Amino acid sequence: MIEENKKQKVLIIDDEEMNLKLLSAILTNNGYEYDMAKNGREALQKVKEFIPDLVLLDIMMPEMDGYEVCRRLKSDASTQNIPIIMITALADRESRIKGLDSGASDFLTKPFDRVELVLRTKNLLKIKEFEGFLLNHNRILEEKVLERTEELKKAFQQIDKTYKEVKEGYIDTIERLTIVAEYKDEETAGHIRRVGHYCSVIAACLGLQGKAIEEISYAAPMHDIGKVGVPSEILLKRGKLTSEEFSLMKTHTTMGGNILRNSSSELLQMAQRIALTHHERWDGSGYPGGLTGEEIPIEGRIMNIVDQYDAIRSPRPYKEGLSHEKAVEIITKGDGRTMPEHFDPEVLKAFLTVSGELDKIFETHGD
Ligand SMILES: [Fe+2]
Ligand SMILES: [Fe+2]
Repeated sequence: MIEENKKQKVLIIDDEEMNLKLLSAILTNNGYEYDMAKNGREALQKVKEFIPDLVLLDIMMPEMDGYEVCRRLKSDASTQNIPIIMITALADRESRIKGLDSGASDFLTKPFDRVELVLRTKNLLKIKEFEGFLLNHNRILEEKVLERTEELKKAFQQIDKTYKEVKEGYIDTIERLTIVAEYKDEETAGHIRRVGHYCSVIAACLGLQGKAIEEISYAAPMHDIGKVGVPSEILLKRGKLTSEEFSLMKTHTTMGGNILRNSSSELLQMAQRIALTHHERWDGSGYPGGLTGEEIPIEGRIMNIVDQYDAIRSPRPYKEGLSHEKAVEIITKGDGRTMPEHFDPEVLKAFLTVSGELDKIFETHGD
């Protein structure tokens, strides 16, 4: 801020006693505070102690001349903003240029006019004051910007943290929900975890976008959630199901779809499609809808193939788990129950492309 009432300080540097007296009298009469120095060395010292707002500087002095004093003041960061008026008997163009070159702001020629001296002093001090005001203003602005940036950063971090917590809670709830269905079934926790990984690998190979890949990895584990509504004796029956039992078994798809339907969450919408269509087959021989080809959502087509792969590889009380190579052979050539025409040719191609990765997932995500 511009200070209204504080006296402004002027340092007079001149080797002639008479000039010092004259200049100090003029300054006092016009309301300025002053101090004096008789040579360059003393001047540099006084500038540090007195801290003037303006310097009146004689050029012709013994030892160190005015140009040198000027240069030194301008090369020091703590004094370079102090305006300097050079007072000189030299009226020629060259000495003025030399003065400007060494950093002077203005000139007065001896013998000087009192009114001119006072006006020039006043003007330069006004400019300096305004520069100080601007500098201070900029500093305050910069501080405010830094402060606000810091606040914004903290707010974003908080939002990010909350988002992560909500998402983790969400995923955790889904996993627990999936475990409910698993209690009634021979499918294992390992299977539930693996299908998410398999699906995301195949989805990436098929060129699905990042968000869809993440969603399918969380949605796939819910594919059999409808089994909570199927009697345990059917789910766990060792022998062949009667046609009535099989009809009931098939309802796990529609029941899963019902459990998950009408959600505003895109993830649960995808989970709903997967639960409903993961037993549909490309050739139309699946259930519950007997859908064919691209009538089956892509997520359902992906889930169908990974479900088969993992079932073939997993041991059951009544059968051994088969090798990766054997599972790939059954899926590509068929074994009477599982047939290649059940699968979307594009999904099958992607399955084969990433089958090495699927094998790794099976080996590293056991029960
Ligand atoms: Fe199923
Ligand atoms: Fe499954």
